Amino acid sequence: MTSFSNSSDSSIRDSFGSKLGIIAAAAGSAVGLGNIWRFPYVVGENGGGAFLLIYIGFVLLIGVPVMLAEFTIGRKAQLNAFGAFRKLAPKSLWFLIGVMGIIAAFTILSFYSTVSGWTLQYLLEASKTGFVGSTNESLQTDFNSFMANGWLPVFWQLLFMGLTAFVVYSGVKNGIEKYTKFLMPLLLIIIIVLGINSLLLPGGAKGLEFLFKPDFSKITMSVVLEALGQAFFSLSIGMGVLITYGSYIQKSDNLSNTAISVSLTDTLIAILAGVAIFPAVFAFNVNPGEGPGLVFITLPLVFEQMTGGYFFAILFFLLLAIAALTSTISVLEVVVAYLVEEKKMTRLKATIISASSISLVGVICTLSLGPLKNELILFGMSFFDLMDYVSANILLPFGGFLIVVFAGWVLGRNQLHNEISNNGVLKASLFNFFLFVVKYLAPIAIALVFINQLNLFDAL
Ligand code: TRP
Repeated sequence: MTSFSNSSDSSIRDSFGSKLGIIAAAAGSAVGLGNIWRFPYVVGENGGGAFLLIYIGFVLLIGVPVMLAEFTIGRKAQLNAFGAFRKLAPKSLWFLIGVMGIIAAFTILSFYSTVSGWTLQYLLEASKTGFVGSTNESLQTDFNSFMANGWLPVFWQLLFMGLTAFVVYSGVKNGIEKYTKFLMPLLLIIIIVLGINSLLLPGGAKGLEFLFKPDFSKITMSVVLEALGQAFFSLSIGMGVLITYGSYIQKSDNLSNTAISVSLTDTLIAILAGVAIFPAVFAFNVNPGEGPGLVFITLPLVFEQMTGGYFFAILFFLLLAIAALTSTISVLEVVVAYLVEEKKMTRLKATIISASSISLVGVICTLSLGPLKNELILFGMSFFDLMDYVSANILLPFGGFLIVVFAGWVLGRNQLHNEISNNGVLKASLFNFFLFVVKYLAPIAIALVFINQLNLFDAL
């Protein structure tokens, strides 16, 4: 039992027990559906290798510093994403970043849990039939009728939220750390096995070309900004997940190294996902540009034809489910940590209340793609798409912007330096560069993404 589960007023905060545990948990948050289906597809559509170079540049130049800023705020305050700003900047409105983080947890988790539920249905389907005898049309029909059913996807979604809640309730060390330390290496092994298998397929080289060959003619302003947006979502920055996780990092750990390791792991796994998917897609001559359907419609067709496809299909959907789970727990933890610390709830009560209220919104998302498809249209999109849009295009970039401005201009040089260098124990050699990024580069870059995603450029 952790201190949280026993009583809410205990003064001993739960924390990660080891360096590897922090990296597993934070990389677990970062590596998710965003890496495995979105990243490969986005790379392929936006100039392959050229987009990849820009993406990696953004991860290193902006992603790592923003992640480090979140860790620093969290560890310095030793509080949840809401309490952290209350403590570091009392009597100001900065705590609204925490409020936004909690709203973002609801919007992200509602649609993310819908898709997470699909991974379980497809895992079951893979192990029952291995998609044997399926055709492109039948897979399309199956996918549509699964969503139209309504209750079946809701069932999987609630089961997934239940799993998420169980891990979060178990605590930081005995839940999040324990499960991510086991699941992340498993995920890495699965994706490497899938990657090797894919590379061995005859005709797969075209897939690598699609993924890696730089096509600079496709690079436009909006592609550049798309790369930055993808980096934000993929690294889990901008809503306080990493502030919350940062508050569980021990004072003697090296925050900069943690931010670098987590970002590199996230990028590596995204690239590996592309390597696992595209050579296979090209080897079997199926359409690589399916978007969301790439994973649920195109890939089953690939597995259907592949030698050992039954085995690889199960591995793949297991991989997706694991990647999704280690991400959903990080989002739920933001709300639970808030309720435990600010509203003095027990961890059990906080988990039940947050998981069930998020599930309520989540069920609406799921039904908006099925039975409520025609009823629930807001601003011209389904409720599912609306939640997706609001989180990725509004809440995250805006949250990220406020977080870096807070770090650079409110905490400032001395406070940041003390926390990052562990009060002068560590060297913090790139500190000046970091300071430049959080004060100037990141706020400007994020502002550009934000403006672009709201299509304000088009309006000019
Ligand atoms: N990074 C995850 C992915 O790529 C999604 C995610 C989890 C996330 N937690 C987040 C995104 C917090 C933004 C903020 O799938």
